[in-house]
Order: sequence, then structure tokens, then C-alpha cells
Amino acid sequence: MTVSGSLHGKTIVLGVTGSIAAFKAVILARRLIERGATVLPVLTAGATRFVGAVTFSGITGQKVAADMWDPEFAGEMHVALAERADLVVVAPTTADLLARAATGRADDLLAALILCARSPVLLAPAMHPRMWDHPAVRANVASLRGQGRIDLVGPASGAVASGESGLGRMVEPEEIVRAIEARLGSSPVPAPVQLHDLSGYRLVISAGPTQEAIDPVRFLGNRSSGKMGFALATRAIARGAEVTLVAGPVSQTTPSGVIRIDVTSALEMKGALESAMPGADALIMAAAVADFRPVHASAIKWKKGHAPQALQLVENPDVLAGLGEARGEARRPVLVGFALETGDREHVIAEARGKRVRKKVDLIVANAAHIALGGDDTEVFLVDETEATAVGHMSKSDSADAILDRTVQLLKQSAS
Ligand SMILES: Cc1cc2nc3c(=O)[nH]c(=O)nc-3n(C[C@H](O)[C@H](O)[C@H](O)COP(=O)(O)O)c2cc1C
Repeated sequence: MTVSGSLHGKTIVLGVTGSIAAFKAVILARRLIERGATVLPVLTAGATRFVGAVTFSGITGQKVAADMWDPEFAGEMHVALAERADLVVVAPTTADLLARAATGRADDLLAALILCARSPVLLAPAMHPRMWDHPAVRANVASLRGQGRIDLVGPASGAVASGESGLGRMVEPEEIVRAIEARLGSSPVPAPVQLHDLSGYRLVISAGPTQEAIDPVRFLGNRSSGKMGFALATRAIARGAEVTLVAGPVSQTTPSGVIRIDVTSALEMKGALESAMPGADALIMAAAVADFRPVHASAIKWKKGHAPQALQLVENPDVLAGLGEARGEARRPVLVGFALETGDREHVIAEARGKRVRKKVDLIVANAAHIALGGDDTEVFLVDETEATAVGHMSKSDSADAILDRTVQLLKQSAS
């Protein structure tokens, strides 16, 4: 039965590799056929140990291809299949297939077919979080991204087969369908959900205010709600990134899949960011970190009537400027800062320009304090080396997407 014809007339090669998630490929095949696609299943030897070829041929109505050396086939099977494909999707993709695709191996039908493909190729990785985290796998992902011919969708965070939790789980078949529809140009879903343009990237995002203790019950703080940083984390996860969110004291719900570290003071935020940054591709510093802290925080509560004559303040370290300095001439990690200013538009942009140069960062998101603080909407300007782009008055979620669009560009530039 055809539920929707969004993939009508399209031929999709469905590669399946040797992961426990292979059973989900059966559901994916079904969803693609429901949308009118012709699905040609290609199984690795590993995949056949998990799901039988008969299941795939039964669901797709097509012969399962698993053997490049099949003497019954006249011609070159990998070339012929690649020629027929409007898109090749490999779901699940093992660490092994990822490595073979990254290094241009052609040692089985699926790997050879990927090399031959002229169509988009989409890989949906599935593996234990420790495998996904391994430097060799990271390097393969980076290499694939650099080659620019193969896209990744996922992986997602959550429980894996061993019962442990982390990043490595294959995204759900429905999400893969959306990513396929986006590439074949007939998706009813808004673009940002489908893009997965942050797959394989690690982002560190800071959010919210900091509190600088005066005594055990009082602090210096600011009115930041954390909404912008949390909107960025939510959208970055939806676009496929791995996100560590370092949050000051806020009452915001943790977006699903985000690794959240809670901090209180500017010094704690500095420590948390420094431990989160190694291996990160970008830092988006949306937190409103206090510029100053009291020199001494009293160990006991100040009593009424005994207020000190003056509160002596000392400047907090500037984490972003520190990272900008440490990065030197290197282009990674990509560094994005925020500038919140009072005053008119020209003043806000001028301050942001100065801040970008001073802190040696790639992009400053400038906004006016009276709109941005605490509200659901904002109006930002993206100030980079060459220009200040107005992003209009919109929800913080939409604004987050605009900031991430620019971050993706910077990530790509920094890889070239
Ligand atoms: C029970 C079991 C589960 C496995 N799950 C995965 C997995 O989820 N991801 C992965 O990368 N490898 C997994 N492997 C290892 C792969 O099957 C193995 O590396 C194989 O060589 C992959 O070959 P292929 O990519 O050609 O299918 C698993 C192996 C077994 C026995």
C-alpha cells in the first residue's frame, strides 16, 4: 500500500551491514516502499548473520545482492547497482564499513558500489559509544566529511545493545526516511530537521548566567534565562551534532541527547569548558558569564545593619578570549561568542566588531539587551571577519538555526 508517494519513481539501494541494528533496516525498507520507492537490498556478509536475505527479498520484492562474485550475474554487479541508484543509504553502517568507505576500499559488493555511486550516499552509523568515540573512527568520519561525497545521518544518543548509554545508536528509520526525502527533494518536513549537517561534529555550548558568591546566600548575577543556549543545543542535536551543554543556574529542561554539565560561578564554568573542549569542533559561548566577582566571598551571612562599606570586585578570566589566544593561527575549534549590549543597532554592531577582534574568534552574535534577555524572541546580527548580517526578529529557536547555519559554514571552511 502506498501511504505517500514522496519517493515515487525513485530507486534506493539499501546497504545493510553487520550490526544488531540490522533489524531496523527491515523497517526502513518498508517505510521507503510505502513512499513509492523501489528498494534494492545489498547485504554485507556480516549483515546476513543478523537478518536473513529472505526477509529483505520478501519485503522489497527484489533479489538480495550480497555476493560481488555471483556467477549468475552477467556484468559488474557493483557498477550496475550504482547506476540504478537515485540514492544509496547504508543503515546500519558499522565502524568497519565507515573505515572502508573513508579509505576507498572495494573489498565487497557494498564498498565497491559506494565507490561507483554517482548518486547521494547516506550512512547511518550504529556502534557502541566507545567505538564511535575511538580516534580511528573519529578520523574516518572527519575524512569522509572532508571528501564531501558522503553524508552521515546520526548516530543518536541513547541505550545501545549492551545496555550502556551514549552516542552511537542508529537513528530511527523515520529519521532516515526524512533525510532521504530531503535529498531526493520531495520532503514535506521543514528543511532544518532533515539537514543533519552537523552529524559527526562535536559542539560545546554554554548557556545561562553565572552567580558570583558574596556570602553563602547572596550573589552577583544577571538576568540571562539560558533560553538561547538551550535553543542552540536543541537545534544542534536535531541537526545531528554531539552536544555538551555547560549551563549556569537556569530552570530549563535538558534537551534529549545532550550531555549537560551544571555550574554556578564563572570560575566553575571555565573549568567545565576547559574539560569539555578537547576534541570539540566548535564552542558557542551563549552564556552570560559574569565579568566580575567579589574578591572575598564571606563564609558567614552578612548581618543586617553590618553591611560592608564597599564590595571589592576582581575581573573574571575570559574563557573565550583564552581559547582564541591558545588557538593562534589554527582554524579549529571554531569559536563563536555573544555580545549583549545596550544602545542602538550601530553601537551593538560596533561593540561586537571590537569584541571579535579582541577575542580572536570567528563570529560574534550581537544582540540588544532589551530584546534578548529572558524573552522567547531575539534579534541578532552575525558579525564575522567581513560583514554584519542582520538575522531579523524571530524566535530563539529560529535564531539558533541561523547561528548554526553560519557555524556549519565556518566548520567547513576550517576543514579546507
Ligand atoms: C553481536 C554483534 C554485534 C555487532 N554490532 C556491531 C555494531 O553495532 N556496530 C559495528 O560497527 N560493529 C558491530 N559488530 C562487528 C561487525 O559485525 C564486524 O566488524 C563486521 O566485520 C562488520 O562487517 P560489515 O561492515 O562488512 O558488515 C557486531 C558484531 C557482533 C558479533
